[in-house]
Amino acid sequence: MYGVLEKIVRHPERVTLEEVAWVMSNDELNEELFALADEIRQKYLGKQVYLRGIIEFSNYCRNDCLYCGIRASNKNVKRYRMSVDEIVERAKLIAEMGIKTVVLQSGEDPYYTTEMVGEMILRIKRLNVAITLSIGERDFEEYEYWKNLGADRYLMRHETADEELYKKLHPNDSFQIRKSHLIKLKQLGYETGAGSMVGLPGQNDVALAKDVLFVYELDADMVGIGPFIPHPDTPLRDSKVGDLTKVLKLIALTRLFLPDANIPATTALGTIHPFGRQLALKCGANVIMPNFTPSPYRSHYTLYPNKICIFEKDTACGECTKNIVRSVGYEVSEDFGYRRKDHERSPCRV
Ligand code: 5AD
Ligand code: FES
Repeated sequence: MYGVLEKIVRHPERVTLEEVAWVMSNDELNEELFALADEIRQKYLGKQVYLRGIIEFSNYCRNDCLYCGIRASNKNVKRYRMSVDEIVERAKLIAEMGIKTVVLQSGEDPYYTTEMVGEMILRIKRLNVAITLSIGERDFEEYEYWKNLGADRYLMRHETADEELYKKLHPNDSFQIRKSHLIKLKQLGYETGAGSMVGLPGQNDVALAKDVLFVYELDADMVGIGPFIPHPDTPLRDSKVGDLTKVLKLIALTRLFLPDANIPATTALGTIHPFGRQLALKCGANVIMPNFTPSPYRSHYTLYPNKICIFEKDTACGECTKNIVRSVGYEVSEDFGYRRKDHERSPCRV
C-alpha cells in the first residue's frame, strides 16, 4: 500500500472523490503535497514561467452571476467598452515587452459581434503572439469561426463542478451547459482553460474534490484557480473570503493530476495575500498574468474588491510579474507556452 498522493501521481484514473476530499480536509499532508506538486512541475516544465498579458476590454455583462462585481444588475459599475483599435494598441505593447500571449477578456458582451472579435484576432495575430479568448459562452459557430482565424486558446472557468451550487450561483445557466461548451472548445482544437473559485458559500471539500476530478476528466489545458472574494454590491456581500491554504492545495492537487497543464498564479490570490502568487508558483503554478488594461478602464473591471495593480502605471505589471517570477527562483520563459508541442499547434492563417 502507498499513500494517496502517490496514488494520484501513479494512477490518477483510480482516485476516488472521497480520496481527493480527504486530502482537501486534512492538513497533515500539506507540506508533502506542496513539495510534490513543485517537483512534478519542475520535472515536466522546468523552471520556466509563462507570462500572459491580459486586456479586460469590456465590463458590460449580460449575466448575473451571484458572486461577480460586474453582474448585469449591479448599477454601481461604471461600464466601459474599448474599441478594436484601442485593444490592438494594447496588444502591441504586450508584444513589445516580449510577452508571447495576449488574453482578451470581457464580460459576456454581445456588443462585440462575431466579426469584431474576428478582426481583433486577425490584427493581433500579425504581432506573432498567441491569443487567448475569455469572453464567456458564445455560439458554437462563433468558436469555430474564431479558431479558423487563428485564436489559439479559450478560457472559460467552470466556476464550480458541484451542479447544485452552480445552479444557485448562475441564474439561467447550468453546469451541464458550461461543460458542453468546454467540450466543444476542446473538440475544435482550442487549448481550453477551465477552473474554479475556492470558498464559495455552500462549497465543501467534496465540492472542491469535484473541481479537481472535473478538470482531470476534461483534460483541461489550463486551470485557473483563485479564492472567492465577496463583492459588496452583490448578493454574496456577507460571505467569507476563500482560504489561502485551500487555494494552494487545490492548485497543488491539480498539478498532480495534470502534470503538464498551464496553471496560473492568479491575481485574486495576489489580492488576498501579499505573496499569494509567489506561494502559488512554489506549489504547482507555472503562469502569471500581468494586467495590461489601460487606465481609466482598469479600475472599473472589478469582479471583486481591492483588486491589486489598480493604481500602477498601466504597463507596470509586465515588469512586476517578471520580478515576482525571478524572486522565487524561476525563469521568465520566452516561448509561447502552449501545452502541446509547438509543431502540433494551430497555424496562423493570416
Ligand atoms: N471573487 C473571485 N473571483 C471572481 N471571479 C468572478 N467574481 C469573482 C469574485 N467575487 C472569477 C470567476 C471568473 C473569473 C474571470 O473571475 O471565476 O471566471
Ligand atoms: Fe501588477 Fe505587480 S503585477 S503591479
